Amino acid sequence: MNTIILSGADTSTPCKAAAIIKQGGLVAIPTETVYGLAANGLDPEAVSKIFIAKGRPQDNPLILHISEAKEMERFCHSIPECAYRLAEAFWPGPLTMVLPARDCVPKCTTAGLSTVAVRCPDNSITRQIIALAGVPLAAPSANLSGKPSTTTAEHVRHDHDGRIDAIVDGGPCRVGVESTIVDLSEGTPRLLRPGGITPEQLKEILGELIVDKAVSASVEKDAVVKAPGMKYRHYAPDCRVVIIDGDLISAKAYIEKHFAPGNRVLCFEEELDIFAPFSPLAYGNGSDMDTLTAGLFAALRELDDPSIGTVFARCPKGSGKALAVQNRLEKAAGFQRITPRKRHFIIGITGGTGCGKSTLLDVISQLGGIVFDCDAVYHRLLESDKVMLAAIKNRFPDAFVNGVLDRKKLGKVVFSDENALRDLNAITHKAVKAEVLRLLPNTPSLIAIDAIGLFEGDLAPLCDMTIAVTAPEEMRLRRLTERDGVSEKYALSRIRAQKADAEFASLCDFTLENSDTEGAFREKCLAFLFGQDIIKGE
Ligand code: TXA
Ligand code: MG
Repeated sequence: MNTIILSGADTSTPCKAAAIIKQGGLVAIPTETVYGLAANGLDPEAVSKIFIAKGRPQDNPLILHISEAKEMERFCHSIPECAYRLAEAFWPGPLTMVLPARDCVPKCTTAGLSTVAVRCPDNSITRQIIALAGVPLAAPSANLSGKPSTTTAEHVRHDHDGRIDAIVDGGPCRVGVESTIVDLSEGTPRLLRPGGITPEQLKEILGELIVDKAVSASVEKDAVVKAPGMKYRHYAPDCRVVIIDGDLISAKAYIEKHFAPGNRVLCFEEELDIFAPFSPLAYGNGSDMDTLTAGLFAALRELDDPSIGTVFARCPKGSGKALAVQNRLEKAAGFQRITPRKRHFIIGITGGTGCGKSTLLDVISQLGGIVFDCDAVYHRLLESDKVMLAAIKNRFPDAFVNGVLDRKKLGKVVFSDENALRDLNAITHKAVKAEVLRLLPNTPSLIAIDAIGLFEGDLAPLCDMTIAVTAPEEMRLRRLTERDGVSEKYALSRIRAQKADAEFASLCDFTLENSDTEGAFREKCLAFLFGQDIIKGE
């Protein structure tokens, strides 16, 4: 099919476009929000072509576009009085109302719902087309399903050249994000999608307004939602998008740390300088929401490139029109949002031998955490820390042979004498703590400190959270005999020499019991960590 481009400046365009619509064809139309892909909304066959061209799921209903407010009575019934007031205040304009549908509206337009969405767009060419065609236009946003919306005729040509009859070029869209949708079909009005008309503006007319939770949260695939379109991944460029919240300095530090060649930053104009090393693309001015809504989709389309890898995106805060930007960006990011930490988050981990602490440590390092194994730190210090060695030599001269520490000898002394052990711990704990503090990185990080003597070694006060890892004795025995190749008797004596699980548990903020397979424990650790806000933030 040859897709013709009809210029908005040409006075014959509305007539030509209306003729195509009447013949059951598809025409991309300009509106103040985004370009729509329009067909005769009362002709099921024409409407079905929209779904095919867009690759749109059949259960996602379309908006009926009308040329003036009074037409809503042709397609809707039981219209509440507030709908007339909203129309008076905001039509023509970026507001869609969901109302009970009359029988003349085909099921494929409403996707079988008893309601229909109607809107009178603020674009005179498009309203002329509707009036000349004499039928309402069913029109979703003209992008291919799941992709960022189209805000120029060129965007539409990119997605649909050769697939639709015509594109009416009315220039770039003024608002740039799709209309605000409000459901007036039952009880208290409900905001289903934020857009150019803000919740505050709606409340002024309506009094009460419920904000549907799908506006700011991800929706499960099989969930029943008010606007079926809300459950699909949307507006998404073909690369990973992550929203980076927080102040500019922390955001920059985070991006600096995670940026890989080819990645991009999507930011505000005033941030271009600071993100200069990270291939930034600005979509508007951070303090002028109209520029952000107008520029967002063009920017997301520019980033629609699988070779990019990750886009780190800056998102405006607050309500009003910022809500519309947040909603689109969050969907594009699949709700991946990161608040960079301004400081370390330190998890102290303790528990007896063979309980599975290493699985938890492994999970934390997979999440990008830095792990300090205090046992290993201690053994390194025995090689390198002259001050610590001198203190040990001073207290335990007999443990040294030719000036070299004999660890077996030292062990023999301290394990048979409580006072000796206490003195050795006093020396080593101090050194280990100083070494951990010395090793802490400069950039804020997620850190795990693993120490059987987390509390005795005075490391717990460094931690934001402490976790005890426990496991049934028979499991620990099995692990120790298999892992360390020691006899069951020896393994048991090692376990019994340590604090009991209950004691570790009583000292810590949280306990993770490892009583199943390693895989199951790994899952348990992950689920626990993701439940902790501060870790989600990294
Ligand atoms: O600004 C806009 O609204 C643009 C321009 C072209 O007018 N159109 C647009 O259409 O964004 P679309 O199809 O991309 O999004 C329409 C949304 C979908 O999420 C759909 O599920 C919802 O409106 N919707 C349509 N009919 C509905 C109904 N009866 N009840 C609830 N939600 C409905
Ligand atoms: Mg859409």
